[in-house]
Amino acid sequence: MLQTVSKAFFGSLAASTTLKHLASRYGMRGRKGFARRFIAGETIDEAIEAARAIEAAGMTQTLDLLGESVASMAEADAATRAYLEVIDRIVGAGIGRNISLKLTQLGLTIDRATCVDNLRRILDAGAKHDFFVRIDMENSPFTQVTLDVFETMWQQGYRNVGTVLQSCLPRSLGDARRMNELGARVRLVKGAYKEPRGVAYQEKAQVDAAFVEIARLLLSHGTYPAIATHDPAMLDATRRHAAEQGIPAERYEFQMLYGIRRDLQSQLTRDGYRMRVYVPFGREWFPYFMRRLGERPANVGFVIRGIVSESGRR
Ligand code: FDA
Repeated sequence: MLQTVSKAFFGSLAASTTLKHLASRYGMRGRKGFARRFIAGETIDEAIEAARAIEAAGMTQTLDLLGESVASMAEADAATRAYLEVIDRIVGAGIGRNISLKLTQLGLTIDRATCVDNLRRILDAGAKHDFFVRIDMENSPFTQVTLDVFETMWQQGYRNVGTVLQSCLPRSLGDARRMNELGARVRLVKGAYKEPRGVAYQEKAQVDAAFVEIARLLLSHGTYPAIATHDPAMLDATRRHAAEQGIPAERYEFQMLYGIRRDLQSQLTRDGYRMRVYVPFGREWFPYFMRRLGERPANVGFVIRGIVSESGRR
């Protein structure tokens, strides 16, 4: 309940231009900017540096060039070209070839056909270099269209692409069955957006129970699922099910967000599990950052301390 309220609160703050201005001014300033706890940096060089550190620690990564809900085709085209450049830079850097993106970043809200073309450009470039491209899942108005676009690409023969399902949505159990039928790779998450009653579960216990049920389904019948959570209870349920069913650790991976529960990331890696860290970077970090605050209001404390100490230095 508390989490639902805080998601709504931080969701509405995310629309504030004054706050965005303030945050942008201090958030990434210097090496100690408060947003750096969750964002690898504003440039691809910083993202590659973070990726190298993650790989040196025995984990893998997926790079996410931040951006969403672009307002024009020109912006969607710019985001697409930026992703093509990210692909080249990743190849040049010799790090793991895995990226995550959002369809509204490629123009979904403006023109679906152009968004699909943009996605195809990225998938084609990625396929040449053996990339895996994950389509992140946005809020519920985009669930069906995101899955439709995903299936369109799948039916056209693209296999270097996967999608995300959110356990907060009751529909996701059925969607997981469909993805298993296709043999498509799913990342399972709880869901980061404030969703209305009737569309999504409102109680954490329901979201968690659905997470466990879908995780089991994906582990037993899916294709290399990614169990993306920082919740020890979800991690335990996953490991227990895998052990009971004799599913080896190579058949799935855990995923966590950059800067969150680094202790668990290392622990799971030491225990022999596959761990992929989602590394967000880029100038458009504000909405992503606000979602991380909404998940855990305690995070606001370090932001306020960051702003106070930065503004005191001026
Ligand atoms: P839960 O919220 O119950 O948190 C469990 C514990 O994790 C907390 O007690 C705390 O210790 C820690 N924790 C969680 N969030 C934290 C935070 N912000 N700061 C500090 N500690 C925190 N969502 C979505 O809608 N679409 C998507 O495409 C994705 N993609 C994605 C990729 C990856 C790799 C991950 C890990 C997550 C996502 N998400 C996402 C976000 C996801 O839906 C969810 O909002 C967060 O993972 C938080 O939920 P948990 O499963 O961690 O559980």
